[in-house]
Amino acid sequence: MCGIMGYVGDKNTTAIILDGLAKHEHRTYDSAGIAVIADGKIHETRTIGRISKLAKKVKEEHFSNGFGIGHTRCATHGEVTENNAHPHISSDNKVVLVHNGIIDNAQEIRTDLEAKGITFHTETDTESAVQYLAYVYEGDPKEAITKLTKRIRGSYALVIMFSDKKDEIWTASKGSSIVVGHTNKEGFCASDPSALLEFTNDIWFMDDNELALINKDGCKFFDFDGVEHFKETMHLDWNATMANRGNYAHYMLKEIHEQPHTVAQTLLGRVADNKVDLSNDLDWTPEQAKGWKRIHFVACGTSHYATVSAAHIMETFGTFDIRTEIASEYSYRNIPIGPDTLAIFVTQSGETSDTLLAARLAKSKGAKCLVITNVRDSTIHREVGDALITPAGPEIGVAATKTYTAQLTMLVLLGMYLAKLRGNLKEETEIRLIEGLTSMPAKLASLLEQEQEENIEKIARNFADAKGFFYMGRSLAYPPCLEGALKLKEISYLLAEAYPAGEMKHGPIALLDKDHPIIALVPKNILWEKTMSNIEEYMEKGSPIIAVATVEDEEISRYTKNIIYTPETEPELFSFVAAIPLQLFAYYIARQRGCDIDMPRNLVKAVTV
Ligand code: F6R
Repeated sequence: MCGIMGYVGDKNTTAIILDGLAKHEHRTYDSAGIAVIADGKIHETRTIGRISKLAKKVKEEHFSNGFGIGHTRCATHGEVTENNAHPHISSDNKVVLVHNGIIDNAQEIRTDLEAKGITFHTETDTESAVQYLAYVYEGDPKEAITKLTKRIRGSYALVIMFSDKKDEIWTASKGSSIVVGHTNKEGFCASDPSALLEFTNDIWFMDDNELALINKDGCKFFDFDGVEHFKETMHLDWNATMANRGNYAHYMLKEIHEQPHTVAQTLLGRVADNKVDLSNDLDWTPEQAKGWKRIHFVACGTSHYATVSAAHIMETFGTFDIRTEIASEYSYRNIPIGPDTLAIFVTQSGETSDTLLAARLAKSKGAKCLVITNVRDSTIHREVGDALITPAGPEIGVAATKTYTAQLTMLVLLGMYLAKLRGNLKEETEIRLIEGLTSMPAKLASLLEQEQEENIEKIARNFADAKGFFYMGRSLAYPPCLEGALKLKEISYLLAEAYPAGEMKHGPIALLDKDHPIIALVPKNILWEKTMSNIEEYMEKGSPIIAVATVEDEEISRYTKNIIYTPETEPELFSFVAAIPLQLFAYYIARQRGCDIDMPRNLVKAVTV
């Protein structure tokens, strides 16, 4: 997914843009570029490869300061070449722009303009936008951009400069996110809000069909007819340090280590005196809660697996009719949805298009919708309205870690709160689980002690050459297997399958051998004997065993020497203590295998297409 950074102000434009692009490095990209306008001229540098390479090239060319835009490209239309990298400049050298998204009718526009004698220089869909803008530009940027928005179809975040308009940056947004900020005579725009944190926390999220003009005096917003409107800033309660890697080798490792804190933050203000209370977040009444006959959890990837854990936990309270649905399927099946449905959409980024489409569907069918997201004012939050915001701070590593445990925390609290509103939560269950949750940050911290991490690193070293892994558990120990296997697949590129331990014998057992180790999740208080009897059978097929077991489980050492101990916890909360060992295991396997951990191949942080 491409990244954009724009700057207008009196500081070192080039440095600010390069630094801003570096903050988008977690998004997959293949090439990068920057354009600065100084003395009425567009100075541009582009390169294939990393931002560090772009930075060297820019230095050689000695850009002077001015106002500028930068871009990291993940090729869609046209090969990965320097020439196809953004920014793109119109043939008359008057307009320069960068683009995220896809222009569906690019070819049609190109054919039209070529027939009018305009020469195209790249294979990109983006060039049709810049050439069209230059074609219709008569000195009024807003007029030209509104014409462009009426001519192009598709999704876009465009950031545009005109060489004859000093210190002006324009943005146009439709179906692709971009944020804008302003402080002390400096204006900014970026794809990722965390790129603006060192300058300001008060930002504007561009809406669909919206234009913005950013200059030293401030920002103005218009609709696609050019009519100006007032727009409130949003305050991001994130800080710049949250988006820094600190002394950690990777963002993923840093974010794994942040989990005791993020879980504690999520509990803050929602539990007191051994009681759960979400009334500050939700204005639901017991009557409403009793009226929802069906609960749909809808999400993708890790967020989906957090909901699978939550559903298993909520089942233990009884009386819930719950479905956990993958968002990309939800919209295309004939699942009964209506006013008696509570549809809960879980998305770290708040921008995942499958989840957004599913939310629109549920809303159109009259379901009560709620979002759990890590990004306040993200697209889904703005569209759905009711939301629980996980306070995990920006997550930069592509593989979700701290947002997963923050989601788990929020989901458990929500499940308990709903059960309580419906009169189904026993007091002793509430006390027991709240005690379990409030002791969780300390338990997670114990899983991050050096000795623990070294043990996991050692086990990972021994198994880094395996061909694939099976993750197994039963009941409440099964959902964390799904997430553990996903983590390994994403960052180490190894096949990993999660199975309920009792299900293996129905087929997958055929795959077991010495090259396919089993990661057995065997907490003492969740069907230990049944799981171990499965594992014993699988060991006979030659698969080595790595056990995630409860501390002081001495019996487990009869089966394997590869043991990762987790602290004792309530069975319902096992997903929490399983998360960190499995994240660390995936991390150290990927590290052994020399994989690009923070930017795994083919993956993006938010799947917006
Ligand atoms: C896994 C991962 C993805 C996301 C999925 C949904 O580590 O990051 O599987 O969980 O793309 O993303 P959100 O939660 O932003 O909707």
